[in-house]
Amino acid sequence: MTPAGRRNGNGRSEEDAALERARAAIDALPRRKDQLLPALQEAQHALGWVTREAIEHVHRHTRVPLSEIYATATAYSELRLEAPVPGRWHVCTGVSCDLAGAAALLEAAPERTARIDCQFLCALAPVVVDARERLFGRMTPEALRARLEAEAAAATPQPPVRRRVRSGTRTRRRPS
Ligand code: FES
Repeated sequence: MTPAGRRNGNGRSEEDAALERARAAIDALPRRKDQLLPALQEAQHALGWVTREAIEHVHRHTRVPLSEIYATATAYSELRLEAPVPGRWHVCTGVSCDLAGAAALLEAAPERTARIDCQFLCALAPVVVDARERLFGRMTPEALRARLEAEAAAATPQPPVRRRVRSGTRTRRRPS
């Protein structure tokens, strides 16, 4: 995903260029209904998520009704219908994860987390996806906070280590 409004050298936004790539990839597929999932995957690959424009293009290309496209797109966890929030961890808020404490995870780090649909790992609820798309199951608020703190610490540049020289301490042996 690219930040909204960013322009490339041609004066077009990167989102426009990504949408064009998605359209070209979808157009390269046979114009058949059984190409619905590959077309959605092409959109996801080019755009980072499945936008409304991409869904409309898939609809025009495959002639699959929009309702069916939305049903398919929501059934596959690897397809996103919302733009991912860069740098955030995504907490699954599907039914199983909701019952297993997804709300507590979101409350544990509201500024660092966002919601995501079912990841089809319901037996491991509650499930969390980190900023690098790695999945974590049976997450607790404490474990989530610890992982976020560890991630932040790893990303924070450390100040250079200075060697201390105490007065009266010989630092170098002089030749006799
Ligand atoms: S409800 Fe969260 S993985 Fe299915």
